[in-house]
Amino acid sequence: MARAFNFSAGPAALPTPVLEQAQADLVDYQGQGMSIMEMSHRGKTYDAVHQSAIANLRRLLNIGDDYDVLFLQGGASCQFAMVPMNLRAPGQVVDYIHTGAWSAKAIKEARIGGPVNVIWDGKDGNYNRVPKPGEYQETPGAAYLHICSNETIGGVVVPEFPASAAPLVADMSSEILSRVIDVNQFGLIYAGAQKNLGPSGLALVIIRRDLLERVPDSVNIFFRYKTHAAESSLYNTPNTWAIYLLKLVTDWLMNLGGVPAMEKINRAKAAKLYATLDASEFWRVHPVPENRSIMNVSWRLPSEELEARFVKEADAAGLKALKGHRSVGGIRASIYNACPPEAVDALVDFMKDFEKRNG
Ligand SMILES: Cc1ncc(COP(=O)(O)O)c(C=O)c1O
Repeated sequence: MARAFNFSAGPAALPTPVLEQAQADLVDYQGQGMSIMEMSHRGKTYDAVHQSAIANLRRLLNIGDDYDVLFLQGGASCQFAMVPMNLRAPGQVVDYIHTGAWSAKAIKEARIGGPVNVIWDGKDGNYNRVPKPGEYQETPGAAYLHICSNETIGGVVVPEFPASAAPLVADMSSEILSRVIDVNQFGLIYAGAQKNLGPSGLALVIIRRDLLERVPDSVNIFFRYKTHAAESSLYNTPNTWAIYLLKLVTDWLMNLGGVPAMEKINRAKAAKLYATLDASEFWRVHPVPENRSIMNVSWRLPSEELEARFVKEADAAGLKALKGHRSVGGIRASIYNACPPEAVDALVDFMKDFEKRNG
């Protein structure tokens, strides 16, 4: 059976050994006569999976005891709403940095329910970069400062996280576990699972414990982080299948050498692709060099007609899902953790040949 080279932005490629393990476990999980999806989330068997998924994340990201690790539903989009609901006192202002389409969505949600100060907006450069330190000022008394650390559509990354007076909140959906980070720099980190963690519909939240207490009484019980933290994300029936897959994905990553080893591989993959893009005027990369994502590589060709041809011919050659997001067009290669170096090699070979024929 041939696996395609899958460059999808999400849901994205999962490691083949993870899928094979899931397949082997599917009908009869460890002699239980049923799949993990079919058993109680309160039972011993599932609980072991649940706790080891959390332990794996704690180990991989070096998460201290002063943080809770939560598995929530509703994807990262639900977090756009839950963050302001939980961390902002009535009437309190919140600061956002606007670096692209996903920041915009987060800002839109935060505007419901209170004042938002967009303290930096990348509109002038058509969202091709992130601010440098000192280019913006935090609002005194803001509840938090929100960033999207990797804009999946524009392919723009925050290379170094800003120091902030207010707790720093980051949407890391499209880059979690791809490079070494210091969790202690953040009040809260969230990520939809469908890129580097597992299947869609699950969101990971890492929250500093003192922030759990901020939630106003007016927030419904289900939407309080505190509710889920108190029950180890078992307040209601969690997405057990997705958490099981996350456990397998994190096992796989630990076997590979953890985040430092993964980062090295990711940087090499991205460097190869950007080197090809920079070698000729035929390709045009949107972000400035210092803010180029190593997860989502976005670029344009000289015409939309050539872009359509590129996507079509690549697909026929087994290089899947290279069409840029519908809002910006062009080409996008998402080269997440599970995208093997061979996929990037095959893409680069295809690009060189395409350029020869069409350049
Ligand atoms: C950076 C970022 N934030 C948020 C989301 C929304 O995630 P979800 O569809 O899981 O709600 C995405 C989805 O691709 C994303 O890339």
